[in-house]
Amino acid sequence: MGADVLVRNAWYVAGMSREFPPQQLRGQVIAEKPLVLWRTAAGPVVAFDERCCHKRMPLSAGRLIEPDLLECAYHGLCYDAAGQCVRVPSHPDGRIPPQARLRPFPVVEQDGLVWVWTGDPAEARSASPPRLPEIADPAWDTADTGPMPVPANSLLLIENLLDISHFYPLHDGNIGDVENSRIPVELDEGVRDGNPYIGTIRKARSYRQPPFLEDYLGYEVVDRDHTHYLLSPAVTRVQMRIWPAGGHGDSGAERGYIIVHTHTPVDRRNHVWRLIINMPAGQKCKSDPAKPAVDRFMETFPTVIAEDRWALEKQQAMFDYPDDGYREVFLRPDRALRRAREILMELEQAERAAPAPSEASEAASKVA
Ligand code: FES
Ligand SMILES: [Fe+2]
Repeated sequence: MGADVLVRNAWYVAGMSREFPPQQLRGQVIAEKPLVLWRTAAGPVVAFDERCCHKRMPLSAGRLIEPDLLECAYHGLCYDAAGQCVRVPSHPDGRIPPQARLRPFPVVEQDGLVWVWTGDPAEARSASPPRLPEIADPAWDTADTGPMPVPANSLLLIENLLDISHFYPLHDGNIGDVENSRIPVELDEGVRDGNPYIGTIRKARSYRQPPFLEDYLGYEVVDRDHTHYLLSPAVTRVQMRIWPAGGHGDSGAERGYIIVHTHTPVDRRNHVWRLIINMPAGQKCKSDPAKPAVDRFMETFPTVIAEDRWALEKQQAMFDYPDDGYREVFLRPDRALRRAREILMELEQAERAAPAPSEASEAASKVA
């Protein structure tokens, strides 16, 4: 039991809005669904099954020969922005087989992100993408890493994000120390916008900040409220709020950041991680008072990310071996990640229990 979970009934982040310029095809796999996406002339992003309905040629290998007219690279079938086949070059009479259309996937664009629902379309209204207003809000300085492929089940990253007792030893000397691992953990659980969530709250007082955090946020010894929330299978939101020691709650002295981690599964052994850092606009770093703290974060935090990716890849490799009596031990700070694992497994089991979406009509479409 462990990192072998794949939830399809979820809104996943396909990318930042700016990664979708108009009329540019993009192919990507989310939750084992090969997709072709593009931003239409009218503005919205559309997503379809990547496989041409003729002979499975990936459509992102084709081209848009006119605005919103997608030509398959193999035999030239053309599709419009609704996924309908509108041209078959080898049919001089212009006949379009009625089943010649692409399966659409629901897309929502909000908070500077493009979200795709990869599960049963009939369930897409059961949940909304979690709100992350800070990403597109000019009151925040924002930067992001872009997509980072990780050869591991996304649950391993989720567990990593919820359990910061790994800051020692994995991130010792940059964002971590052993004191961090000893901060008591409170849990918060519920459902928001149709998404079950689990969060951790760590409150520290007179805590000496590790070097990276002191540089980003300025203060050396702080009162600190640190929360990590798995908001949905797609995203974990981290909020750091600090005050000079003894000044907890003083709004004039508060500093901090919000990190949004998106973890988009590719399959059961791979996911795409994006880190989006948000700091109050104008916040400068300590080592260079002229430099926005967000810029300093982007210069130095890749070290931390590399440490996490190193661990996740090594963990995943161990799943190649049969359990053979092996059992994980859960420690006190692991309660949230254990609950996260249960939530994802419950979501996956609920999908398995539901009837398969319109398989019969797909079978009927095989003959043109
Ligand atoms: S595979 Fe696309 S046109 Fe034949
Ligand atoms: Fe980490």
